[in-house]
Amino acid sequence: LITVYFEGSKESKEKFEETLKFPISDLVSASILVYEINSGEDIKNISVSKKKPVFLYITVKDREVFSNAKALKPDGILFPPLKRDILNDRIENTYNTFYSKSDNTFQDHEALKAKILAKAENIPPLPAIAKELILLTTNDKADTKDIIKKIKQDQGLSSKVLKLVNSPFYGVRKDISSIDRAILLLGMSTIKNLALALTTRSFFAKDFAVYNTTGEKLWLHSFNTARICEVIASLEGNIDVDAAYLCGLMHDIGKIILVDFLNSNGKTPESEKKQVGIDHQKVAEVILRKWGVAEYIIKAISDHHELSSGKLASVLYFANLIDHYPEDVNMLCESIAQILKINHFKLVSKINTLIKDENFGSM
Ligand SMILES: [Fe+2]
Ligand SMILES: [Fe+2]
Repeated sequence: LITVYFEGSKESKEKFEETLKFPISDLVSASILVYEINSGEDIKNISVSKKKPVFLYITVKDREVFSNAKALKPDGILFPPLKRDILNDRIENTYNTFYSKSDNTFQDHEALKAKILAKAENIPPLPAIAKELILLTTNDKADTKDIIKKIKQDQGLSSKVLKLVNSPFYGVRKDISSIDRAILLLGMSTIKNLALALTTRSFFAKDFAVYNTTGEKLWLHSFNTARICEVIASLEGNIDVDAAYLCGLMHDIGKIILVDFLNSNGKTPESEKKQVGIDHQKVAEVILRKWGVAEYIIKAISDHHELSSGKLASVLYFANLIDHYPEDVNMLCESIAQILKINHFKLVSKINTLIKDENFGSM
């Protein structure tokens, strides 16, 4: 039976009692331990023993605290807002893995993992334009003109780009009917990023029932996350906006391979690991390396389910959550604004415009 010990503020303890479906118990009889981290000082008092799984619940917004917490190698890190589904799934799966009540044996997992990684290695190449657009993120930005020419030559692509730039989010009142005009009004970067999102769409054309979604919805989630990343990065000023966009667009790409191997819901990375021994962040690393994506972008993507000290990774972590939980947009924007030391009100207002865009989430 799973029982949870919680050490931290009264307020957080109540939050856990309310969200957990497992009972809270004392330190000795609990099977899972949760420690709240409210400051850098708290970390010094915690020892992660290997006798019971330990979760750290971090309520302070400080990148140094995140990396110190990670260095303790806990079994999981949690952040507010606590989501009932996700929290219980993570606790349960961690419990099962720790006390080895896993469905598959270690050998099964090793064989499966090898198959999954081989399939990721053999992912079809990106369309030529997409490949060039991705290389632009890391290489010489001066090549952009050449890419624009290619986007214009691809009639299907440019008409889709034009449809998107005419959405209310971009705030242009008159109809934009040419790519040149779109670039003039919105900038080269916006246009090439939209083109990139559109060229990756076909990779999501699959049945994603085990992820409780559809290919179209998963692509939209990726596209929306990319746009949220773009907004956050552009307010910060020092983060490469195109890199942030690419992070958002590709963060769940590992799912397109894993989906063929899961047999029940892959609600969290923990449930993926429990079923097949590997999560979608790890699979993404293989695909993205294959596609020539820069290592620092791959690193941010591989961290996207657990807040880490990297700025780009933090942007992606919160952008993903904002798209999943628009009802928590204020709290999530406040967190990332504090972490990056950017203006919270400006961020909320920009993100709200994005979320309210009629194309956002329903294209
Ligand atoms: Fe993900
Ligand atoms: Fe996601």
